[in-house]
Amino acid sequence: MHIVHIAVEMAPIAKVGGLGDVVTSLSRAVQDLGHNVDIILPKYDCMNLSNVKDFHFRRSFGWGGTEIKVWFGKVEGLSVYFLENGMFSVGGIYGRNDGDRFGFFCHAALEFLLQSGSCPDILHCHDWSSAPVAWLFKEHYMHYGLSNARVIFTIHNLEFGVHHISKAMTHADKATTVSHTYSKEVSGNPAISPHLFKFHGILNGIDPDIWDPFNDNFIPVSYTSENVVEGKKAAKEALQQRLGLRRSDMPLVGIISRLTVQKGIHLIKHAIWRTLDRNGQVVLLGSAPDPRIQNDFVNLANQLHSSHSDRARLCLTYDEPLSHLIYAGADFILVPSLFEPCGLTQLIAMRYGSIPVVRKTGGLYDTVFDVDNDKQRAQAQGLEPNGFSFDGADPGGVDYALNRAISAWYDGRDWFNSLCKRVMEQDWSWNRPALDYMELYHAARK
Ligand code: ADP
Ligand code: GLC
Repeated sequence: MHIVHIAVEMAPIAKVGGLGDVVTSLSRAVQDLGHNVDIILPKYDCMNLSNVKDFHFRRSFGWGGTEIKVWFGKVEGLSVYFLENGMFSVGGIYGRNDGDRFGFFCHAALEFLLQSGSCPDILHCHDWSSAPVAWLFKEHYMHYGLSNARVIFTIHNLEFGVHHISKAMTHADKATTVSHTYSKEVSGNPAISPHLFKFHGILNGIDPDIWDPFNDNFIPVSYTSENVVEGKKAAKEALQQRLGLRRSDMPLVGIISRLTVQKGIHLIKHAIWRTLDRNGQVVLLGSAPDPRIQNDFVNLANQLHSSHSDRARLCLTYDEPLSHLIYAGADFILVPSLFEPCGLTQLIAMRYGSIPVVRKTGGLYDTVFDVDNDKQRAQAQGLEPNGFSFDGADPGGVDYALNRAISAWYDGRDWFNSLCKRVMEQDWSWNRPALDYMELYHAARK
């Protein structure tokens, strides 16, 4: 089957959050199943093209009174067509009249496919930003050269651009969101409810080759579940040294997150203080698109620098290499989101033998099974419990999960180490979900 993703993010060259990870890792998994997968992406000025192999100019074409340049290159083994035009290439990924920009990009992407005589079987678009593909295709391109294709639309986050999402839901042949529980949580939303017959929850996976503690240049010692204790000890020491934290073995809570309301900011702040009360260390890596929230965290970082400089560090930036060292060096990764369509951080955490501490919502509910409360629910999935979780959106919930997690670390190191080994052995790759997507692609073509 020939599948074309039209998207505005792709890891690692144009990533803001999990959307970028998913475009790359789902495509790689489907390509590994023997299918032909292409990606069409804007060529942003800000892109670091050093990660693109064989990058070269292909051709240009005229459309909409302007010229679109087409570049080609390989990213993580995937064929990527980069479209360049002043309308959508200038500036950062988001932040400049994005509705118009990305609408124009979607139009250009379809025009490129039409003009190049390509006949994809599936056009897969993502979130509000490439939602226009669905209606542009149905209203126009379907009647011209691309008539063979079917449109799949994946919602990664219903919070943004609901008008676009609603319109794409109407025109897509099939639609998905990124976990089963989130699909239920949003099923009553007027953008979704009329389309439940074609709407499916398919859990995201992570790419085990991209996130691999045995083969990771950003951590000091390679490890698998067999030497997880030594591997994580070395990573924790390297992390403490790099950030100037006290180099002693105490429970280390990591947080790696966009700092937005979705991610439970008040719960993150509470958890920082609770961890310090319980004689733990905290490392937060995150940045806030909203300057007021960023400023708030800068103030907190300054406060912590004077009160707990050897046990807390807030790194208020985006830093991919540092994220790897935190996933490996932390004992716990905290994800207290108010809502979470899937969440990749808890899955990456487990791949590195870090224990997730999460709020029970969306994909966090589907992937984290509390060691004290969810044995049966885990076993129904063929799994053993793998973390700590809480309900509610108040500090008491965070305390419930975090206190048990930190006590478990202090009171039962053998038990805790066996938990780290166990979570590393769970499979959160695309092995299963990629097959679900293939089934959906086939169903769309029937
Ligand atoms: P979302 O897409 O809502 O931000 P996900 O959990 O799906 O949340 O994906 C977040 C992705 O972004 C993960 O790969 C995570 O490691 C990464 N990430 C988030 N914040 C940062 C940061 N400040 N620096 C590096 N990586 C980050
Ligand atoms: C969105 C969601 C996140 C999900 C990611 C990838 O950004 O907030 O929960 O994991 O998309 O699908």
